Amino acid sequence: MNKLIVSIIVLLLILLALGLGYRFFNDDLNKAEETKDDIPVIEEIIEPTIEPEPTVEPEKTINTDMFYDLDSILILVNKKHDLPSDYEPSDLVKPNVKSNKSGLSLRQEAALAIEEMFNKALEDDITLVLGSSYRSYSYQSKLYNNYVAKDGEEKANKYSAKPGQSEHQTGLAADISDASGANYLKQSFKDTPEGIWLKDNAHNFGFILRYPEGKEEITGYMFEPWHFRYVGIEEATKIYNSNLTFEEYYNILD
Ligand code: DAL
Ligand code: ZN
Repeated sequence: MNKLIVSIIVLLLILLALGLGYRFFNDDLNKAEETKDDIPVIEEIIEPTIEPEPTVEPEKTINTDMFYDLDSILILVNKKHDLPSDYEPSDLVKPNVKSNKSGLSLRQEAALAIEEMFNKALEDDITLVLGSSYRSYSYQSKLYNNYVAKDGEEKANKYSAKPGQSEHQTGLAADISDASGANYLKQSFKDTPEGIWLKDNAHNFGFILRYPEGKEEITGYMFEPWHFRYVGIEEATKIYNSNLTFEEYYNILD
């Protein structure tokens, strides 16, 4: 009888153990499931589509009268647009800059700008020298006739403006040299520290490289890395950023 009771107790203990084992096993399974559910689902990250910037057309908010107004700093002067023979700007002043000639003058606004430009260049260890600025109609006539006598008309026309067609008569153009003068009015000026500095910085002072390399067909003149034309900082910066000539930028090719 005692044996029977012991056997029953042992059997009950075995069943109890099996029951508990099953429960723990199930708990583990549930935990595993829960853990699986807890793993955050990593959503596929969809990058927002970046629309390409629309090509920015040059801003042409300029009143086109400016190109034909003698007092405007945007006056257009080229082989198709002459200045009157008696035109002389009314506000010519002598800029306080290093120059290789006496009596050089520019319109007041351009004179102030060139002073600032030459001073900033000096801070960068670049010494610029003014070689030519305002030229009267009669002085341009003499220059042009001398060039024609020396090189013939066809060749002279590539580097010298006829009287009335020179930007120098506006008092807004400057021919700039390096300190030694060794590269003055030579295309080699382009590779000098002074030529490079001007090319990269002149627009910040309102000047543009007026006769760029590769644009001879448009400007009508050979590349002149020394000739800078004042148009004001805003326009100079826009023209510089466009890589276009003055005529191309404003679409004033006729
Ligand atoms: N060398 C420039 C074109 C001028 O004579 O004005
Ligand atoms: Zn010039």
